Amino acid sequence: MTQSEALLIPPKPKAQAAPMKALVYHGPGRRSWEDKPRPVIREATDAVVRVTTATICGTDLHILKGDVPTVADGRILGHEGVGVVEETGSAVAGFERGDLVLISCITSCGKCDFCKKGMYSHCRSGGWNLGHTIDGTQAEYVRIPHAETSLYRLPRGADQEAFAMLSDIFPTGFECGVLNGQVKPGDTVAIVGAGPIGLATLLTAQFYSPAELVMVDLDANRLAVAGSLGATQLVEATGLKAVERVLELTAGAGVDVAVEAVGIPATFDVCQKIVAPGGRIANVGVHGKPVSLELERLWAHNVTLTTRLVDTVSTPMLMKLVQSGRLRPQKLVTHRFGLGDVMKAYDVFGNAAREQALKVVLKSQ
Ligand SMILES: NC(=O)c1ccc[n+]([C@@H]2O[C@H](COP(=O)([O-])OP(=O)(O)OC[C@H]3O[C@@H](n4cnc5c(N)ncnc54)[C@H](O)[C@@H]3O)[C@@H](O)[C@H]2O)c1
Ligand SMILES: [Zn+2]
Ligand SMILES: [Zn+2]
Repeated sequence: MTQSEALLIPPKPKAQAAPMKALVYHGPGRRSWEDKPRPVIREATDAVVRVTTATICGTDLHILKGDVPTVADGRILGHEGVGVVEETGSAVAGFERGDLVLISCITSCGKCDFCKKGMYSHCRSGGWNLGHTIDGTQAEYVRIPHAETSLYRLPRGADQEAFAMLSDIFPTGFECGVLNGQVKPGDTVAIVGAGPIGLATLLTAQFYSPAELVMVDLDANRLAVAGSLGATQLVEATGLKAVERVLELTAGAGVDVAVEAVGIPATFDVCQKIVAPGGRIANVGVHGKPVSLELERLWAHNVTLTTRLVDTVSTPMLMKLVQSGRLRPQKLVTHRFGLGDVMKAYDVFGNAAREQALKVVLKSQ
């Protein structure tokens, strides 16, 4: 072929990534449902998953308020969901195209020092990445790094809504609230905050047969739900009123475990004022402001204070309980939308009190 002939051959068009639809963050207060390229395998340890069930988390609302500056403009949101494996990288053993999988909100390599300790949340090449530092699950497809340790295979025909609650809220309530709070048979437990996380704490605390489960919130509807899910006392108050009421309910003794499931100084303060000597304060809430720790009073009370970013180490155990019907996380699902109606779903979830919303599920075929 002569040089002039070569010039006549048109260049091959660049392979265009197939488009998909996704919910994209565009800075504080701005989100849109738009076309994005379909994710592809980048590392041998990746999988691409077609999302069949996703949800919206309170943390997504925090991102949209601009509270999480590490989320870049253009990021696809979402860190919860269930889907079907579309493609796997060459190093992924144990998963293949067509497998139904639960996507963990925490990505973990399973090999680094933190992963070896079961602290997946601090994985050297993972942690909370999805819908944060990499594209997330509120899309038709999502790329999952470290697929072998970040995905869990589900039985065919599994209740996808129930399992989608195990991506984040149930491991969070159980690990950060119940395990860190060391809930024991006969304990009096107060959970401050009856949102999805507080309610997941309420359901999983019952594995250990506490004697009393006191739920504190300002939202009468959420408290009513808590009542139907096993709370023994409902306190519709905050601040000193809530403290007074909890102390009254415990004959002045206070509670063995106080779980903070809101993430503001006022509710942390309630916890430190209602904890009994020898008790535990298990902080779950994400705090953006400093709190005032009353160490001058608590130092002699033998109190334990714990904090934790969810590790999702309890996911396999929670999956067994869902599979057997002993745990029914689907009770927290109040609204269902098609994935294409995710903009509407955000409007409903963003007005949770008015809409009486707890978990909003997004479905795709
Ligand atoms: N530690 C972790 O790994 C982790 C993981 C996920 C979420 N979180 C955090 O857990 C917290 C709870 O999450 P959620 O999705 O259930 O949140 P949510 O906003 O849906 O629920 C919070 C609840 O607190 C109640 N509340 C607000 N102010 C109150 C007050 N002054 N007194 C009493 N109740 C009050 C609200 O009515 C609401 O029901 C958030 O801070 C979230 O960011 C932590
Ligand atoms: Zn979340
Ligand atoms: Zn790791």
